[in-house]
This record gives sequence, C-alpha cells and structure tokens, in this order.
Amino acid sequence: MNILIVGGAGYIGSHVAREFLDRGHSVTVFDNLSSGKRENLFPEAKFIHGDILDYTGLSRAATDRRSAGGFDALVHLAAFKAVGESMVNPEKYSVNNINGTINILNAAVEGGIKNFIFSSSAAVFGRPEYLPVDEAHPTNPESYYGFTKLEIERFLGWYDKLKGIRFAALRYFNAAGYDVKGRLKGLESNPANLIPVIMETACGIRKEVQIFGNDYDTPDGTGVRDYVHVSDLAIAHAMAMDYTSKNDKSITVNLGSETGISVLEIVEAARRITGKPIPATIVGRRAGDPAKLTASSKKAHDLLNWTAQYSDLDMLIKTSWEVYRNI
Ligand SMILES: NC(=O)c1ccc[n+]([C@@H]2O[C@H](COP(=O)([O-])OP(=O)(O)OC[C@H]3O[C@@H](n4cnc5c(N)ncnc54)[C@H](O)[C@@H]3O)[C@@H](O)[C@H]2O)c1
Repeated sequence: MNILIVGGAGYIGSHVAREFLDRGHSVTVFDNLSSGKRENLFPEAKFIHGDILDYTGLSRAATDRRSAGGFDALVHLAAFKAVGESMVNPEKYSVNNINGTINILNAAVEGGIKNFIFSSSAAVFGRPEYLPVDEAHPTNPESYYGFTKLEIERFLGWYDKLKGIRFAALRYFNAAGYDVKGRLKGLESNPANLIPVIMETACGIRKEVQIFGNDYDTPDGTGVRDYVHVSDLAIAHAMAMDYTSKNDKSITVNLGSETGISVLEIVEAARRITGKPIPATIVGRRAGDPAKLTASSKKAHDLLNWTAQYSDLDMLIKTSWEVYRNI
C-alpha cells in the first residue's frame, strides 16, 4: 500500500516508517525537520520537505499519487509535544497541533485518503480516577498539549461521519527505547522524558537525574508510569492501518505495556545496564504529576491483536543505551 507519513522524520515517525517499509509498503515522508532529522530518513522512502501549515505544499503532497491510485493511508505524527511549554505558550500549540491537523484532514479529503492513523496521547485523560486507565476513562486533560490531542480526536470523529475518513486514534503512554534491530540512531531533540534524561546523564551530557518526589503512595515512593517501546508502537500503527482499511471502521485505543515502572527502578536498571554511576537527586514533586499511571491495552489487544512485546524494562534501557553509548 502507499502510505504518507506526516512527521515521519521524528523519533516515533521514523520507527513507524521503518515498520511500514519492512512490511513491503511504499512510504512517503512529509516533514519540516523542525525536530525530525535527516538521518531518520530511509533511501527507500520518498521524502518531501514541507510544513503542515503550508496548505498548498501539503495538498500537493496528499494529491501527489492521485493519478496512480493515491495514498491508501496517512499517518499523522507531526506536532509539538512539550507539556510544560504548552502551558506557557498555548498559541504555538494551537497553530501547529490544531491548525496543522485541520490542514492535514482537508488535504486527506482532497487526496481521497480514507485511512488516517493519528498519534494521540495518554495526556487526554488527565488525573487518573482509576487504574489501569482504559478507553472509557473520563477525558480531562490537565495540559493544553493534552487538550489539543483531545480536540483533534473530536475533529477525526466529525471527518469520519461527514467525509468517510476512517481513523485510528492511538493514545500512546510513555514512548521509549530505540529500534530493536538497532537501525535507527537519530537522537530525540531536547528530550524531556525520563529515559533520554537518564541516558544523557550516563553519557556525561547532564550532571544528574532529578527525581521529582519520593513520597508518593507507590512501593518505593517515586512515580510509576507505563512505558511502551517505540518498536511496539510502530507495529501497532501497521496493525491499526490494517484494521481501519479492512473493517471500514474507526477506533480509539490505548497503547501501553500495562506494566507500571517506577522512576527509581529505571535509574537502577540503567546503572546496571550501562555500568555508569548515574547520579540522581530527589527534588520536590512537580505540579499535576499523579503517583501512578498505567494503561489497559485490552482494547488494542482485542481489536488489533496487538500486545507490547518489547516493552520490558531491560529492553527499553538496552536499546536506548545502544544509541547513546556511541554519541
Ligand atoms: N514521545 C512520546 O512519548 C509521545 C507520547 C504520546 C504522543 N506522542 C505524539 O507522537 C507524535 C510523535 O512524537 P515524537 O516523540 O516522535 O516527536 P518528534 O518531535 O520527534 O516528532 C514530530 C515530527 O513532526 C515534525 N513536525 C512538527 N511540526 C511540523 C510541521 N509544522 N510540519 C511538518 N512537520 C512537522 C517534526 O519535525 C518531527 O519530525 C507527536 O504527535 C506526539 O505528540 C508522543
């Protein structure tokens, strides 16, 4: 099939592109390289250097293959994703995430693209009312970033009803790790997530890891989260595309490992695997951080036959260290 991957030069997008290529699909990546990297592009995929805010260029890309049958599916990963920044500069998130998505949806309609895979986030839920968080959990985003993702899910619902676009909204929990086959080495730009921060400390780029609170109601007092390996996420995109195209139905699913891992467990595993001391200091809690957040991915299992296979703690750290040890 012909797949257009918007944001395909980024951290998750490059893994998704690799997975579709591995499955024999023909891939076109559309990206402005604002945080994506040229080294994340593959010679077998076509690359269009463009911005989702430039509707003319985007619509040219989406209609590019129309005469040859068009794109069968579009994967949309292009967004800003820094939760903290979205609270001080919501305008930037309104424009890139929301206006950008409306452009992509309109270009998909123009290009006759019927399957739409969207990178949503666990941030749509906000503070958990029960665990594990399933898709029926109330959505109450605590950040403007999470709000943009939820709004986009609503737009998708309308374009499904009005324009026949079948979508898969994939609510990722904490994405981590690098390609299990070691083929992708493009580091995330300005990482704010825990595992990259730990890796940068192991490499000496940072002096220490800050642990935000050790007095939570969790076994070791540090925050517990659900980490899902990026190779597992990539596989889920291919399965989601199969689902929307074969069943002519839209879905919204959580993608998590269903395992809670604490901050301290990650730091300790990283010390063991890297052999580096990785200094860590306990600092105060961050506002809005829940003690624990874990996913139920039962729906993804039931509908897509997807289960995380690479998301155990050692695999998350080992595949990350394989990339960071060589920088
Ligand atoms: N990393 C996570 O843990 C996580 C969790 C939940 C959801 N997500 C979502 O997954 C998606 C991918 O995240 P990522 O971690 O790979 O981030 P990333 O920053 O590496 O990837 C985003 C890609 O989109 C491109 N992009 C951004 N704005 C663009 C624009 N205006 N025009 C064209 N391209 C543009 C960037 O250059 C980059 O290649 C995002 O939508 C993010 O919100 C990520």
